[in-house]
Amino acid sequence: MKKILITGGAGYIGSHTAVELWNAGMEPIILDDLSNSDEKVLDRLEEITGKRFAFFKGDCNDKSLLERIATEHQLAGVIHFAAFKAVGESTSQPLKYYKNNVGSLIVLLEFMQEQGIQDLVFSSSCTVYGQPEVLPVTESTPRQEAESPYGNTKKICEDILMDYVKSKPGVRVISLRYFNPVGAHPSAKIGELPIGTPQNLVPYITQTAAGIREKLTVFGNDYDTSDGSCVRDYIHVVDVADAHVKALSYLSGQEDNFYEVFNVGTGKGNTVLEVIHAFEKVSGQKLNYVIGPRRPGDVVKTWADTTKINQVLGWYPKYSLEDSMRDSWNWQKRL
Ligand SMILES: NC(=O)c1ccc[n+]([C@@H]2O[C@H](COP(=O)([O-])OP(=O)(O)OC[C@H]3O[C@@H](n4cnc5c(N)ncnc54)[C@H](O)[C@@H]3O)[C@@H](O)[C@H]2O)c1
Repeated sequence: MKKILITGGAGYIGSHTAVELWNAGMEPIILDDLSNSDEKVLDRLEEITGKRFAFFKGDCNDKSLLERIATEHQLAGVIHFAAFKAVGESTSQPLKYYKNNVGSLIVLLEFMQEQGIQDLVFSSSCTVYGQPEVLPVTESTPRQEAESPYGNTKKICEDILMDYVKSKPGVRVISLRYFNPVGAHPSAKIGELPIGTPQNLVPYITQTAAGIREKLTVFGNDYDTSDGSCVRDYIHVVDVADAHVKALSYLSGQEDNFYEVFNVGTGKGNTVLEVIHAFEKVSGQKLNYVIGPRRPGDVVKTWADTTKINQVLGWYPKYSLEDSMRDSWNWQKRL
């Protein structure tokens, strides 16, 4: 069984990816410092898969820890999720973000070169596109100046990967640009664990429905969209996880010094109000929400063109927006 190191594997997308890797016949080796996750996830992963995954608690900037993992496990590839992701915090603490998100990628690439590990899948984001002029967004849509230090770390990491692969180190790399991952595992055993006030729409919706938040504010209903609220491409986290499995399988058939980027989305945009209504429909809950003013800096609308990932990796999303809302709500109730 191929062993795959998952940095940030106790986190939201990493934990779901561990399950899908296992289902596809690969063994996840998890490294996480638990700065934004809980060790109990390991128990939940065992409940879902029947397997206790190897877990290393620590910082993936720590090369000696990576080396220790490599002495205990022969690694066939790496998926690098570990990063800080709070956009607001990145503005007030940019160095924390550059150090962790950019620094860890460099340490990891050095480690991979020293160990002769070829394959890497990197977590990028649609944030690199900013507000695109033409929709849907293809992988060749020009990237825009980042709106936040967090977004800039993703752009810089993509550039590092591109330059590094050009230097012919023998590696094969795919950057996946996720649109808006939502939902939770259908078992309701793992999901997103927002610490403090959620930064994203769906956890805010479910926490409001659960009575943890008093009300949800929709930031603007006078944009040029079907109902005036902002549009995003919401993709179920299990589908996002599956994209990593497809990416790794694809990499293993490529020549050395390979680099590609792929959008990971549904190919369909939904407004904030459509998401709220989908949630109300599947949960049977009336959501307490109000319309507020526009929020400065918000991208008005973005959604993915997924032709490339469909055709090249053979990846297609299986879950609908309603599925995502149902699974998010079941996860919230479990919490
Ligand atoms: N969730 C989204 O909406 C989204 C969208 C686009 C891109 N991404 C990217 O996907 C990746 C995973 O996101 P997520 O939503 O699962 O986040 P998450 O915070 O749930 O998971 C990240 C995990 O990495 C761990 N971590 C952070 N720094 C670490 C370090 N130095 N060493 C070891 N572990 C460390 C955290 O404890 C956490 O468990 C991130 O790189 C994020 O930027 C996420």
